[in-house]
Amino acid sequence: MAIDDVSRRKFLAFLAGSPLFIAAGIDHASLARLVSGSSSDRSKGFDLIDQAAKQPHLIRAANQALDVFDFEPVAKHNIPAAHWGYLITGTDDDATITANRDGFAKWALRPRRLVDVSHVDASVELLGTTYSTPIVLCPLGSQKAFHAEGELAVARAAKARNHLQVLSTVATTSIEDAIAARGGPVWFQLYHLPDWNQTKQLIKRAESAGAPAIVFTVDLIGGSNRLTMFRERLADARQCADCHIGGQPMPGVTGRVDGRDNRRKPALSRLVPTPAMPEVGTPTWDYVKRIRDTTTMKVFVKGLVTAEDAELAIEHGASGIFVSNHGGRADNTLRSTVECLPEIVKAVRGRAIIELDGGVRRGTDIFKGLALGANAVGVGRPYIWGLGAFGQEGAEAVLAILRKELEMVMRQAGTTSISRITPEYVVART
Ligand SMILES: Cc1cc2nc3c(=O)[nH]c(=O)nc-3n(C[C@H](O)[C@H](O)[C@H](O)COP(=O)(O)O)c2cc1C
Repeated sequence: MAIDDVSRRKFLAFLAGSPLFIAAGIDHASLARLVSGSSSDRSKGFDLIDQAAKQPHLIRAANQALDVFDFEPVAKHNIPAAHWGYLITGTDDDATITANRDGFAKWALRPRRLVDVSHVDASVELLGTTYSTPIVLCPLGSQKAFHAEGELAVARAAKARNHLQVLSTVATTSIEDAIAARGGPVWFQLYHLPDWNQTKQLIKRAESAGAPAIVFTVDLIGGSNRLTMFRERLADARQCADCHIGGQPMPGVTGRVDGRDNRRKPALSRLVPTPAMPEVGTPTWDYVKRIRDTTTMKVFVKGLVTAEDAELAIEHGASGIFVSNHGGRADNTLRSTVECLPEIVKAVRGRAIIELDGGVRRGTDIFKGLALGANAVGVGRPYIWGLGAFGQEGAEAVLAILRKELEMVMRQAGTTSISRITPEYVVART
């Protein structure tokens, strides 16, 4: 045997001991045997090495995750391709999704030293309720597409970790069941319907269920071009129409809830027939006032990215604003939400509660959002990665990781409570 061959086998045998193969479910002993065997054995060994190189590292239990990203490949592995496409999609080439992440990198921390940080309190109060952290579970539709227990598992995670959960109009769990599982109120996100009487029913039902706030989403009214969703769907051998009446909207069909398949959406499937009151045109700022005049719940407007609209929201009676771009799923080529935040904070001047969401993945992101003036910071996809990977336990683990990271940044920065996280703790990178 040529010396080169001996060295190569030794090297391959060494490689076979790598945790990479263990993580990919490839047995070390068999791989070692193959790489030191006949040429056909070796070629099988190479195939296995190839396979391992292509596989991401998959954690096997929620408690193995080191950061929220560890849940993503497991969720991808578990979730059918078409549903995965619904989760990850942005619009056009997904540039707003990229911008949301990049936005946080444009700010650096300015930590202070020698502060007693033996006790750090990350709790916040929102509408009279105390939560363990300012981390909000954003409204995400159709969560049973990602895990059989969907929003119920998320509600139980929110209860276990004491977080605010916002339930989507297109949730696959009713608000009554979500509140029961949460063991306390959730907020209700509103998509308006083409008929005001029906929209009013959505509002009144949330109010009767005990929701203290309604979050009116205004950033999808013109439609969105979700190319990644359509592309991922091609990788799914199943027929959408086997599960969804009429299938899902196809390329070229834009717009909001279109009533094609509301069977699994309790807010929409249980609307009571009333004399129709069709809208003329699409909602304008008067609509916010109309919602406010219809309910005792506090009204929040979700999807604002400019100071001008923040001012209008307050003028029309909003108690709060979600600085959000729908996780990059509404318009393409926007600024990141964290870049929009300062002008909105300046316009609001403390007159409304400000939530920031979009691309939040780490404790440092949450800290930067708070330092720039947000009262709460929302996450979307990360808790769905946890849910899709390990159900309630995964969603809980995501919340626990983000809290641990936030508390560590708070200690490192010398900020012992959320109210102490002020603009002096961040600086724009030049
Ligand atoms: C799969 C998916 C479904 C969503 N559904 C809704 C929804 O029904 N209503 C809504 O207001 N926002 C919805 N959003 C936007 C989120 O509330 C939130 O703004 C966004 O996910 C935050 O960005 P992130 O995913 O990067 O954390 C959805 C987002 C995703 C990813």
